[in-house]
Amino acid sequence: MDPRLNPYTPNAGARPPALVGRDHQLLGFEVLLERLRGGGTEQSMIITGLRGVGKTVLLGAFREIALKLRWAAVEAEITRHGDFGERIAQLTRRALLQVAPRSRWRERARRAAACLQSFSLTFSPEGAISLGVDIDAVEGLADSGSLVEDLSDLFVALGEAAREHETGVVFLFDEVQFLEVREFEALIAALHRTVQRSLPITMVGAGLPQIPRLAGEAKSYAERLFTFPTIGPLPAPAAAEALTSPAAALGVSFAPEAAQRVVDYTQGYPYFLQEYGKTVWDQAEASPIDPQLVTACVELVEAKLDGSFFRVRAERTTELELRYLRAMAELGSEPQRASDVARVLRRTSNQLGPTRSRLIEKGLLYTPGFGLAAFTVPQFDRYMIRNHSLRPGISR
Ligand SMILES: Nc1ncnc2c1ncn2[C@@H]1O[C@H](COP(=O)(O)OP(=O)(O)OP(=O)(O)O)[C@@H](O)[C@H]1O
Ligand SMILES: [Mg+2]
Repeated sequence: MDPRLNPYTPNAGARPPALVGRDHQLLGFEVLLERLRGGGTEQSMIITGLRGVGKTVLLGAFREIALKLRWAAVEAEITRHGDFGERIAQLTRRALLQVAPRSRWRERARRAAACLQSFSLTFSPEGAISLGVDIDAVEGLADSGSLVEDLSDLFVALGEAAREHETGVVFLFDEVQFLEVREFEALIAALHRTVQRSLPITMVGAGLPQIPRLAGEAKSYAERLFTFPTIGPLPAPAAAEALTSPAAALGVSFAPEAAQRVVDYTQGYPYFLQEYGKTVWDQAEASPIDPQLVTACVELVEAKLDGSFFRVRAERTTELELRYLRAMAELGSEPQRASDVARVLRRTSNQLGPTRSRLIEKGLLYTPGFGLAAFTVPQFDRYMIRNHSLRPGISR
């Protein structure tokens, strides 16, 4: 088929031509905004899921809904060791300008701008934000130096500005597993404050299953403020639709057995579906696409996945970390016990503890249960076995 017309989107965060299987979350988000705008309360959500299941795409779809409902929506990807204070200040500035252009700011919006000045002087004096308006910082607001207190002041001021202008503000945070505990706690405390005041401001997050561990009060607030829905691979019928409908829209069909083979190989994982669909499209010479072609494309698909999706995940790992991952792969795709992995490497779990922790910190592994670790990247075991030998130096 004409590669110029190829409808598939195997790229991080790229909106697929058919966003299937996420209606429940999309509706939930719309309800959340409508209820907050009406002065009600509603639990927000933090979406978790493995790599490549469509979290970023979903946040993008949320943003579109927010804009359609005339909310201010600002997005950020959390990075490890990022400057959180400065990031929040920048986002708040953007949100405030979306709430209303400067020339139309009323009292509450001006106050939020003053609060933002204080906040940014407190948390990022270097990158002090220029709002381009002559508004001084306010004394006693967002200037205590305590992130919890000052972020709460800032969110309340921003929420009040939004309410004054009959709109709302939603923060969309991607890769929330990289938030530090104190940052996550501050966000939770700030949102708790705005919920108490029924302000139209909220935060929706997405990230790996490894959400920062909260303790005590912060934990119980988090459980009241958020639901934690998991998104995963698409069930077989939805996966088949994600594969076939973009082609159908261009007059190309899949033989049922051909679609089935793609669904089986990909196990319904959205990224793999897009990569497989794209490859098959480029190779196909006729419609309907037949099962033999699908099977003949496996190697090409794997080469592409290995060179992009998997490789970027495996980058920035040390030799020992790679060996750890390879040993896990030897045991299979399921969650594995530290002691079993250690046995494969002929070491003790204690010796390998730091390696395992670093892999969790880097987002390559997560801990689904006590003493267990699993890959955050679907089918990573197959990738490791294809590309790395268990005993380096001895060829496979
Ligand atoms: N519901 C869906 N139906 C079909 N394809 C989808 C769907 N959601 C996402 N995709 C496709 O899956 C791929 C991965 O999406 P996305 O980047 O949002 O995943 P992610 O969960 O954010 O991954 P990561 O954890 O690596 O950031 C993209 O190529 C996207 O086009
Ligand atoms: Mg993503």
